[in-house]
Amino acid sequence: MEDRIVSSRLKGDDLPHENSLRPSKLDEFIGQESLKEKLCIYIEAAREREETLDHVLLHGPPGLGKTTLAFIISREMGVNIRVTSGPAVERAGDLAALLTNLSSGDILFIDEIHRLNRSVEEILYPAMEDCALDIIIGKGPSARSLRLDLSPFTLIGATTRAGLISSPLRDRFGILERLEFYTPDALYEILARSARLLGVELDRQGAEAIAMASRGTPRIANRLLRRVRDYSQVRADGVITKDVAFEALCILDVDEMGLDRTDYLLLDTIIDKFEGGPVGLETIAASINEEAATIEEIYEPYLMKIGFLKRTSRGRIVTEKGYEYFRLRSGGEK
Ligand SMILES: Nc1ncnc2c1ncn2[C@@H]1O[C@H](COP(=O)(O)OP(=O)(O)O)[C@@H](O)[C@H]1O
Ligand SMILES: [Mg+2]
Repeated sequence: MEDRIVSSRLKGDDLPHENSLRPSKLDEFIGQESLKEKLCIYIEAAREREETLDHVLLHGPPGLGKTTLAFIISREMGVNIRVTSGPAVERAGDLAALLTNLSSGDILFIDEIHRLNRSVEEILYPAMEDCALDIIIGKGPSARSLRLDLSPFTLIGATTRAGLISSPLRDRFGILERLEFYTPDALYEILARSARLLGVELDRQGAEAIAMASRGTPRIANRLLRRVRDYSQVRADGVITKDVAFEALCILDVDEMGLDRTDYLLLDTIIDKFEGGPVGLETIAASINEEAATIEEIYEPYLMKIGFLKRTSRGRIVTEKGYEYFRLRSGGEK
């Protein structure tokens, strides 16, 4: 199900576009106003003091701009950025090598930082706190520990699962920020910008329609824009109007709120099989044959955001609003 058009995860054919559409300066970064303002202040203050920026932890659902922000921060600070990810760093030695290769002021970006294993993570504690690397030499009773100094650096961690970050790691970040889903207005602006960069003709209502179907997520907005562009080129005269956008979304099996078959299946299952809930995540996962983590990370946040689903201590429930929408969509038989 991960090939769905409205998946917020990065897919192979996104890559070249992601980079060409990625804003590279803070003032090109649309939305997330309060986060942007804070970052702007922290960056300016650090620059004035000629210090490194505090370590930054960015969390939030996929596709909201965490990687983009890490690159923007490096550019605004005028420093180099090295990029790795939790699963890519297998051994403590790999991380030690990365850290010792940083120059003064550099940024180390660790994507999916919640997936670092514990022995690797422990290397980070003294590195983040004291710019030091503790190395154990020898084994058994003769083992001793040696401390190496590192150049001052900034760690930027990104995660979709803040709850999975251990507290000793979390406590070592000076700046912890959550990215929120984007408003339709912000998505509209992002789409207008992308359309300009791609040379696509997109009218106001066409952009609004795509914005509404983008699940609050820039990555999805850009992906839908590319698919709707294909449709408008082949089946219309190349201009993306409201009608063209809706026709294309219909072919893509995405409704005007950005819900696709899996969302419907999820709602249908809770409503029909479990009388609207509460029902546990694992039970839902088994019923729709999807991984619990995927449901929790990808599907639920948006359904909760639009007020269709609630998490309670006893499980998930479909709200009145969710019922209403579902009833209308499925022809009133439910
Ligand atoms: N605030 C924004 N303004 C404009 N485009 C954005 C913004 N945030 C994200 N994007 C677009 O969405 C894509 C996905 O963002 P990314 O930083 O890779 O998300 P994440 O790392 O959180 O999964 C980027 O390539 C960029 O084109
Ligand atoms: Mg990313």
